[in-house]
Amino acid sequence: MRPTPVLLDCDPGIDDALAIAYLVAEHLAGRIRLVGVVCTAGNVGLADTVANALAWLDLAGAPPVPVCAGAAGAIAVPHVFTPETHGPRGAGHAVLETTTTRCVDPRGGAQFWVDAARAHPGELVAIVTGPSSTLARALEREPALPGLVADLTVMGGTFRGHPGNTTPVSEWNVDVDPEAADAVCLAWEAARSADAELAAPLWCGLNLTERAVWTPERSQRLLAASDSPLARQLTAALRFYFEFHDSVGEGYLAQVHDPFVAWLALHPEMVITEDSHIRVECSGEHTRGMTVEDRRGHRGRAGNARIATGVRVSGGPEAVLDEVFAAIVSLR
Ligand code: RIB
Ligand code: CA
Repeated sequence: MRPTPVLLDCDPGIDDALAIAYLVAEHLAGRIRLVGVVCTAGNVGLADTVANALAWLDLAGAPPVPVCAGAAGAIAVPHVFTPETHGPRGAGHAVLETTTTRCVDPRGGAQFWVDAARAHPGELVAIVTGPSSTLARALEREPALPGLVADLTVMGGTFRGHPGNTTPVSEWNVDVDPEAADAVCLAWEAARSADAELAAPLWCGLNLTERAVWTPERSQRLLAASDSPLARQLTAALRFYFEFHDSVGEGYLAQVHDPFVAWLALHPEMVITEDSHIRVECSGEHTRGMTVEDRRGHRGRAGNARIATGVRVSGGPEAVLDEVFAAIVSLR
């Protein structure tokens, strides 16, 4: 069976780095084929997300994987960077190499999305762990993208009344570019209105991802299991994330949304989901960036989302992180 083609669109980003390492491990194990990494401006600027992706791929010992520069910011409003969350360069306390032999693919991230989907029609598993800015641009280039992508998994939003992490009702990836996230919702709504067989995107919001907690103890175990440069830099990056979470009252720990979501994307059968329809509020004074679920069908629109509400893994998110951990350790 050919390995599943996987595209990651990320904004490294400390937990994005764990997702990159996990996906490289899955690629090297032959379980997936990581066809590309698209970098999008997120907590830090595009130049840093690209540089970080290159450095993390080097540290993970990745084979040559296309890396593309995507959107440099939100599609409709000035981009708000948040260096306090992932550090001034997006890698926390990690010290990443600034030289690499890897080249940045000359295609922009949006074009790479389109090319990858066309190259693997009905097969591509796409994972977004940052803002949807590049994906929104790709949808402008290729409106048929939803019909080409086999499965889209998004780390974004918050559901079931779970509070936001950026405003009372918004999650950061969506909050920084709600217009882009809403464009994704509309694109898949239209596609599924035309073809109900298409898979609705899997939205993994804070209601679930905040349960994926990386602790200092797990970092110690990682260093004990693999004293590699990758392990040393990942744990240095995570130490900053521990300090950030502690500073906002979450405790000295790290909610590692992105590797958890990457695992969910590769194990869809293990995800507890509810079909739904969502739109993203883009103008509310108090609700901008809110993912608004239509749980009772008031809108009468085709479902455009599967909301992740749990995992069918005994041990829950902690057990999922054990698998991510084992994959990273395998990258000695
Ligand atoms: O809200 C969590 C998301 O914002 C994660 O993807 C994290 O990396 C940050 O980008
Ligand atoms: Ca991210």
